[in-house]
Amino acid sequence: MSKLRLGVNIDHVGTLRQARYATMPDSKNAEPDPIAIAGICERAGAHGITVHLRADRRHMQDRDIERLRENVITKLNLEMGNTPEIVDFALRIVPDEVCLVPEKREEITTEGGLDLIAHRKEIMPTVKRLQAAGIRVSMFIDPARGQVEAAYRVGAEIVELHTGKLANAFTEKVERQELDRLRDAAVRASKFDLQVNAGHGINYGNIALIHRIPHLVELNIGHAIVARSLFVGFEGAVSEMLARMENYPG
Ligand code: PXP
Repeated sequence: MSKLRLGVNIDHVGTLRQARYATMPDSKNAEPDPIAIAGICERAGAHGITVHLRADRRHMQDRDIERLRENVITKLNLEMGNTPEIVDFALRIVPDEVCLVPEKREEITTEGGLDLIAHRKEIMPTVKRLQAAGIRVSMFIDPARGQVEAAYRVGAEIVELHTGKLANAFTEKVERQELDRLRDAAVRASKFDLQVNAGHGINYGNIALIHRIPHLVELNIGHAIVARSLFVGFEGAVSEMLARMENYPG
C-alpha cells in the first residue's frame, strides 16, 4: 500500500477574487487571498499547492505566485504553457515543479493533454532550461502510450495523466475504455521510471475509480475541493479528500 499525495489546485480562489477585483488589484478589500487558503490546505494535510499562471491571468496573478513561492512550505507546482514570457517567469520564481500544459485562451479549463509528439522540438529546450534551474518537470498528457514515451524522450521526470475523459464519461463503456487507457499509460510510464501523477475532473465520487489506476504518486485536484469548501471550509474539504485517498492499493 502506498500513500497517495494530494496537490490542491487553488486557481479558483483567484477566480473568485478576480470576479470582483480584477480592475482593482490594489484594493484593500481584495479577497479571498489565495496565499491564506494555501496555508489552510497545508495545515489540513495537503502535500503541495498547484497553480496555473495563464497568459490571460484570469485567476492567478504574477504577485500571487511570488507570494506563494515565499510562503508555501510543502511544494509549489506551477502549471503553465510553453511560452517565452511564462518560461522566463518560472525561471525567476523557481517553483519546485513545473507542469507543462497546452493552453488556449478560449478554453474554460485545460481541455486536452500536451501533444508531445507534435511539439517535441519546442518542448525539449524548455525542459532543459527548467531542469538546469533545479525545477522538476512534469508533462500533462492524454493517457496514450506514444505520449508517455515522448515524455520520457523529452527528459521529463513526471507525467500527469489527464483524467478528464474518465471523469466526464457518460457511459460505462467509455468509462471502462478510459480506465484501461489510464492503467496502460501508468504501467508504461512506470516502466520508464517516470513519476505518475493524475489530474483533471477528479472529485469526491470518481476518486474511487482513480484507485484502480496503478503506480500513482500524486493527484492534483482543484474544482471539486474549492466547490466543497463552500460547504465545509477548506480544512474540511481537504481532509475529506485525503480520507478518500487513503488505502490506495498502489
Ligand atoms: N491538472 C492540470 C494539469 C490542470 O490543468 C487542472 C486544471 O487547472 C487540474 C489538474 C485540476 O483540475 P480540476 O480543477 O478539474 O480538479
